[in-house]
Amino acid sequence: MDVPDYRPQVPAAPLRVGLIGAGAIARSAHLPAYAAWGIPVAAVTSRRVEAARALAADFGVPTVHASVDDVLADPEVEVVDIATGPAGRLDLIAAAVDAGKHVLAQKPLSTDPAELGTLQEVLGRARERGIRIAVNQNARWAPVWRLATLLVRSGAIGEVVGVTHLHDKPLPPLVGTPFDDVPHMLIADYLVHWIDITRCWLEGSHVVAVAARDSRVPGQPLEARNPWHADIDIATAAGASASLRIVGNARTHAGGCPFWIHGTDGTLRGSILMGTDFLELDRDGDRTRFETTGQWFTDGFAGAMGELQTAILAGREPENSAVHVLPTVRIGWAAVASAEAGGAPVHPAGLDLTTAQEAFTR
Ligand SMILES: NC(=O)c1ccc[n+]([C@@H]2O[C@H](COP(=O)([O-])OP(=O)(O)OC[C@H]3O[C@@H](n4cnc5c(N)ncnc54)[C@H](O)[C@@H]3O)[C@@H](O)[C@H]2O)c1
Repeated sequence: MDVPDYRPQVPAAPLRVGLIGAGAIARSAHLPAYAAWGIPVAAVTSRRVEAARALAADFGVPTVHASVDDVLADPEVEVVDIATGPAGRLDLIAAAVDAGKHVLAQKPLSTDPAELGTLQEVLGRARERGIRIAVNQNARWAPVWRLATLLVRSGAIGEVVGVTHLHDKPLPPLVGTPFDDVPHMLIADYLVHWIDITRCWLEGSHVVAVAARDSRVPGQPLEARNPWHADIDIATAAGASASLRIVGNARTHAGGCPFWIHGTDGTLRGSILMGTDFLELDRDGDRTRFETTGQWFTDGFAGAMGELQTAILAGREPENSAVHVLPTVRIGWAAVASAEAGGAPVHPAGLDLTTAQEAFTR
């Protein structure tokens, strides 16, 4: 069979990026990906200008600005790359829209349901002005997940019946980090990529219930404030369902993140991270195993920026547009609300997992 092109698509003449936030993810993933894929970074700023200077020196960024306003006013900057945490991110997006700059914003797009009205107003303003706002859902371009998305879209397994993710890997270091202060951190932040890819695979569905539970686990040290176990279940109107499971800080050197997408005509099974990347299509008695090139870290980051830039140049909305990512955000909010309620299902109103096309024609 023809293998769909799952690699990042970066324009031949990429647009120039202005980076806001010179923290861990900018250094470890954004800038290495842009360097590898030839995406130019024109300027950087960060709350601590020394951090911006150090990053600029290490990655050859020509200009360090003292403020966000200076980045937004810089005519060399064509796309603003927001790599800050969620607090205050919506204000940065709004300021970029007012300055007439396209935006790639880190995930989670929002952690506060009270922001919904403002978020929709900012997205509406951007649309009126022809400004593209995308979210850095870079895992959509993790090679095996991207290939799975393209195969699902092409009908390779028929209609999706169920999505299952298991976390068979250690958690990242959380103790003592600001992330450990985020309530229900695994559900609210860490699992956002898993929620988002599930949203992509269940595209076209209508979510009727989200339930989530988290708990401390045996052996979890007292200083680890957040629960280390988290389960999220998603139910749709047609009966298709999804299950995301982190049992705790798995003690393994061999695991990864296995997943299954079961459909009416076949099954996709695979795994990502920790060197386990593989994808297999199981249909009509045949098993086709795909060898993929590249890794989520850091090719996914070129994929997210490349899709935004390709869309800007083509005059269309990107696949990772904030409008398309909004259902991911709403599932996340519902999951946190459910975890707060001890796992009772939450029934969000009007939560349609629209296709990218539908997202913009409504
Ligand atoms: N795979 C992924 O996509 C991935 C992985 C890790 C983290 N993240 C996300 O990226 C975001 C950043 O994470 P991090 O670990 O790099 O955090 P970090 O705290 O290391 O970096 C954030 C940087 O932004 C700067 N900053 C914050 N607000 C600012 C403002 N208003 N103006 C200028 N600079 C500002 C901070 O000073 C800091 O340097 C988080 O939302 C996190 O969830 C995404």
